[in-house]
Amino acid sequence: MKPLNIVVLAAGKGTRMYSDKPKVLHALAGKPLIQHVLDCAVALQPKQICVVYGHGGEAVPTAMQQYAANFVIQEPQLGTGHAVQQALPHLVDESLTMVLYGDVPLMQADTLQHMQQVGDGLVLLTVDLANPTGYGRIVRNAKGEVQSIVEEKDASPEQRKIGEVNTGILLAPTKLLRNWLANLQNNNSQGEFYLTDIVSMAVQQGVEVHTVQPAHEWEIHGINSKAQLAVLERTWQQVEASKLLAHGVTLADPARIDVRGKLTCGRDVEIDVDCIFEGVVNLGDNVRVGAYSIIKDATVAKGTQILAYSLIDSSKVGANCHIGPYARLRPGTKLHDDAHVGNFVEIKNSEIGQGSKANHLSYIGDSTVGSRVNIGAGTITCNYDGANKHRTIIEDDAFIGSDTQLVAPVRVGKGATIGAGSTITKDAPSGELTLSRGKQVSIAGWKRPVKKISHVI
Ligand code: UD1
Ligand code: CA
Repeated sequence: MKPLNIVVLAAGKGTRMYSDKPKVLHALAGKPLIQHVLDCAVALQPKQICVVYGHGGEAVPTAMQQYAANFVIQEPQLGTGHAVQQALPHLVDESLTMVLYGDVPLMQADTLQHMQQVGDGLVLLTVDLANPTGYGRIVRNAKGEVQSIVEEKDASPEQRKIGEVNTGILLAPTKLLRNWLANLQNNNSQGEFYLTDIVSMAVQQGVEVHTVQPAHEWEIHGINSKAQLAVLERTWQQVEASKLLAHGVTLADPARIDVRGKLTCGRDVEIDVDCIFEGVVNLGDNVRVGAYSIIKDATVAKGTQILAYSLIDSSKVGANCHIGPYARLRPGTKLHDDAHVGNFVEIKNSEIGQGSKANHLSYIGDSTVGSRVNIGAGTITCNYDGANKHRTIIEDDAFIGSDTQLVAPVRVGKGATIGAGSTITKDAPSGELTLSRGKQVSIAGWKRPVKKISHVI
């Protein structure tokens, strides 16, 4: 196969988004539209990627700088043909050039690979639409051969009845494309240089014009407004949900799950309603995720139960753990197997050993907790002195009484017990009871204050 150049058109204004942000930087499934397109482009292993941008200053190149692409500005924007002309200096001649749209985010690599396989000449991605309004129409002759593309605004009433439309995505031999683009005219109803005019040029030169249709209609949907973005987001989430169902995942409601990244599930995983998965999430066999949970960039090993309203971010959870309801695991949390983290417990940058429990109302930050430790309700690690963070170490089999403050840096030895309500500022020795508490006293004969009676004169 000839080497491939990919040109991504992204200079359009996006007026109907009513936003200061360039259209292609709005997110679908948690990722900017153009990033979906670039990820798809990269999957085709092209020699060159060239992004044509326009509005929003350097916002697009800056946001996409992780891609090995050339960014060329199109200023002013004189049409799709003019846009591709801007990319020409970056394209290699002995190659094919594919044109993608930065605002058509769900194009799938399979469909584009299909275009690469149909033969030489010009390849157009087209689709038959029940309502073709607004699109360029594919005009064919009696033999069914493509003759031209006519834009809606330039089409005759007869041509407007054609249901096969131009998606805008095409593949052309670069050398021919260069010649065709050099000959574009803007004598049309919009005064623009139309990329679509290359089709009739190809036909005149006897270059074959092939058409390919996408596997799914949603692949070709472009975004021009927040309403279209919202609709396509739901379409994509349905696709994600269907993939999970096909893999055997139980979804309480396939219409109420959001995957903004890559979710991988083992066998017999159950996900209750309205959960959000972001980044890369791996759920092991038999994991259950309760309603309204949000899990981001995390691994959860088999058999773990996550109850409703739990948040897990950049954490690693072992097998058979119990989490939530209302638990919050912040970045850098590592739970070993059989750990329990209950309601209103926040854990950050900490390791919780096997079988250890923090079941109620605690903050555990910058801590290393051994195995079989019990952390009583309301325990707080005071990890921050106002300037620096310090670590708390709790060794195996320790028991921390309720409402304890552990003022870091501090260590609780193996098997130590801390009496409830203690403020621990020094290391607590192994195997001993440590407590810091005022002695309980009762004042005999003490009376409650009574309210003074004010006399109104
Ligand atoms: C274009 C096609 C039309 C097709 C439709 C599919 C042309 C002349 N028409 O029409 O046949 O059915 O797409 O959606 O090609 N862009 C630039 N610079 C420009 C103009 C556009 O980068 O000067 C980019 C836009 O950001 C967008 C894409 O090109 O990503 C398409 O532009 P748009 O204005 O939406 O094209 P249409 O007129 O809808
Ligand atoms: Ca459009």
